Amino acid sequence: MTERFITSTLNRREEAREATLRPQHFAEFPGQDRIKEQLELFVRAAKERKEALDHILLCGPPGLGKTTLAYIVANELGSSLKSSSGPAIEKPGDLAGLLTALEPGDVLFIDEIHRLSNTVEEYLYSAMEDFFIDIMLEQGAGARSVRLSVPKFTLIGATTRQGMITAPLRARFGVNIRLDYYDVPSLVAIIRRSAGILGVEIDDDGAKEIAGRCRGTPRIANNLLRRARDYAQVKADSVITGEVARAALELLQIDSDGLDEMDIRILETIIGNFRGGPVGLKNIAVSVGEEEDSIEEVYEPFLIQRGLLARTPKGRVATPRAWRKLGLESPGSQPELF
Ligand SMILES: Nc1ncnc2c1ncn2[C@@H]1O[C@H](COP(=O)(O)OP(=O)(O)OP(=O)(O)O)[C@@H](O)[C@H]1O
Ligand SMILES: [Mg+2]
Repeated sequence: MTERFITSTLNRREEAREATLRPQHFAEFPGQDRIKEQLELFVRAAKERKEALDHILLCGPPGLGKTTLAYIVANELGSSLKSSSGPAIEKPGDLAGLLTALEPGDVLFIDEIHRLSNTVEEYLYSAMEDFFIDIMLEQGAGARSVRLSVPKFTLIGATTRQGMITAPLRARFGVNIRLDYYDVPSLVAIIRRSAGILGVEIDDDGAKEIAGRCRGTPRIANNLLRRARDYAQVKADSVITGEVARAALELLQIDSDGLDEMDIRILETIIGNFRGGPVGLKNIAVSVGEEEDSIEEVYEPFLIQRGLLARTPKGRVATPRAWRKLGLESPGSQPELF
């Protein structure tokens, strides 16, 4: 079984480990060039006007750099960042506490923003738009509301589930950014930078090997790099060459395309249970035991980008490449689709 690296909830140790490799400035953040260019421009403009930056929504699959970008933006603004998450803000009072502790120009980062409760989300609207919140004191006959003003701040929301952001919330973000999987040259740059920080030598071949097998995801690239470092230290000259990387990844049973267990399971379901499709999302979700939303927003984008899956009006279809990937011959009954 392949180790599962795709996870949104990291434990404390993993978080600390990620922090050491987390870039602090745009210049240390390879890839996502258009997004970086946009954000750099907005940051500069806001600084020149001495105003708070517009609210930013960052969407995209896990491990692509949403949290990292939020910290970079705050850093480049010269502001401090206060961090919370959708499920942690349980009551309007929690939100009020966070907001009133902000200094003008600060960044409030809310991770997993799609998990805010409806009530809290509604309070957030007036804070984002008009920089105040009306908090109800007491219930029933004695109920009265108090208006608290909130300093001009920048909200950065992050989500892996773009589809679960309500329209009114989405509309209140001036900047809406979608991160996509990284190309190999950007991943090679990320791996080289991380290797430098970890103090391990890696050659071009080694970096390319990891870059090609990390699901286009920096978090996975960094994890694989660590495993290759262990391997190199124990079994080779402490240098990660192409050969060392291949041997280490094979030992971990990392697929040559970097697919993880769930990716494979989805393809096996479509091909094995539904003869390659078309099959609806619901059926796939039930068969593999995963939520529809995460299949649609976490797994499918990568399979589609890899040319292994296609979304058609009638449902999901496994491409001939997916059949070959599983070592099967495609029935070739739907060549017109491709
Ligand atoms: N462009 C990049 N350059 C270098 N390292 C990166 C880049 N993007 C992400 N990373 C590294 O990958 C790891 C994961 O990134 P990050 O935590 O920002 O992802 P995320 O999108 O917030 O994921 P999640 O949805 O799980 O919260 C971090 O260690 C980070 O330093
Ligand atoms: Mg994150």
